[in-house]
Amino acid sequence: MKNNTSPRAAVCVVLFFLVTLFIIYSSNSRNEVFHYTSLRVQPHLPTSLKKWGVKTGYLPVSGNKTLDRHCHQCVIVTSSSHLLGSKLGAAIDQSECTIRMNDAPTTGYEADVGNKTTFRVVAHSSIFRVLKRPQEFVNKTLESTLIFWGPPVKMQKSLIKVIQRVSVAFPNMSAFVASPERMKQFDDLFRKETGKDRVTSRSWLSTGWFTMVIAVELCDRVHVYGMVPPNYCTRKPPPHKMPYHYYEPKGADECTTYIHNERSPKGNHHRFITEKRVFAKWASLYNITFSHPVWE
Ligand SMILES: *[C@@H]1O[C@H](CO)[C@@H](O)[C@H](O)[C@H]1NC(C)=O
Ligand SMILES: *[C@@H]1O[C@H](CO)[C@@H](O)[C@H](O)[C@H]1NC(C)=O
Ligand SMILES: *[C@@H]1O[C@H](CO)[C@@H](O)[C@H](O)[C@H]1NC(C)=O
Ligand SMILES: *[C@@H]1O[C@H](CO)[C@@H](O)[C@H](O)[C@H]1NC(C)=O
Ligand SMILES: *[C@@H]1O[C@H](CO)[C@@H](O)[C@H](O)[C@H]1NC(C)=O
Repeated sequence: MKNNTSPRAAVCVVLFFLVTLFIIYSSNSRNEVFHYTSLRVQPHLPTSLKKWGVKTGYLPVSGNKTLDRHCHQCVIVTSSSHLLGSKLGAAIDQSECTIRMNDAPTTGYEADVGNKTTFRVVAHSSIFRVLKRPQEFVNKTLESTLIFWGPPVKMQKSLIKVIQRVSVAFPNMSAFVASPERMKQFDDLFRKETGKDRVTSRSWLSTGWFTMVIAVELCDRVHVYGMVPPNYCTRKPPPHKMPYHYYEPKGADECTTYIHNERSPKGNHHRFITEKRVFAKWASLYNITFSHPVWE
């Protein structure tokens, strides 16, 4: 008996030692440098995005309209080239509400991305690209609502005036701007979900982040087409190169863009991969599903 137990005890001691070393090592390396990609999404009570109140968070660009649309079922059509050749257009158009981003066009891509736009979420940096093609983005369908977001310092009166001028030319245009208070709520949400302050970590939230939150606010269920899962770009072997935008076939590679932004410490970058980790956690909380590719 004695001869049997002592090797086992020795193995236990060695194992204990190794596990302790591993714990010390991994806690040290986590404290050393902050890597967004190794970030664990913070456990906490569910944020009640549904209680934010859509009507007060988005201010009309002209008139006294309120954003009071509610959809049972929405799709987010991403701008990713994963949608090219998908022939999803008809399925996307069947959805009660479709949400698109920035200057992602439908003309010429209907078969893959559909031709209906209920909401379009537009970054301050894309305002000119959207408004200089009003027949594509403003006057194409009567029901489209544009929702602009931007840091309050960027959304100066001059930028709002540009949107207002277009709304004079297109009186049926329905346009809202995220209020400064709502912009702060978006930042607070990022801090709560990731434990990282957006400003001190020198990053911008992406249009994808705003679009996902707005979709959750407006819709009971959300299906996302063309968004890659958080671990997609770092998997081995690496995925094939794919354009970041379906409408810019010669543009940047999607994963190169994601990884460069995620890892860059210099500032003015989007933490696309971190944001997707948060989306993965929200999936069951807020009825969000993903396809093309499917999220495991
Ligand atoms: C707001 O709109 C309603 C109709 O939708 C109108 O009756 C009301 O006078 C408007 N108020 C202002 C301040 O423009
Ligand atoms: C686009 O819109 C028209 C009706 O306006 C519809 O007949 C067509 O099937 C739609 N979908 C696609 C994928 O083109
Ligand atoms: C908006 O589009 C319709 C066609 O769908 C066109 O008749 C109308 O002139 C357009 N409005 C403006 C202001 O360009
Ligand atoms: C605005 O929408 C109404 C119907 O809601 C329509 O009768 C009118 O022609 C539209 N005006 C323009 C300029 O498209
Ligand atoms: C999820 O969707 C169902 C209907 O499909 C709805 O009843 C439920 O409220 C939704 N849950 C949330 C958190 O929105």
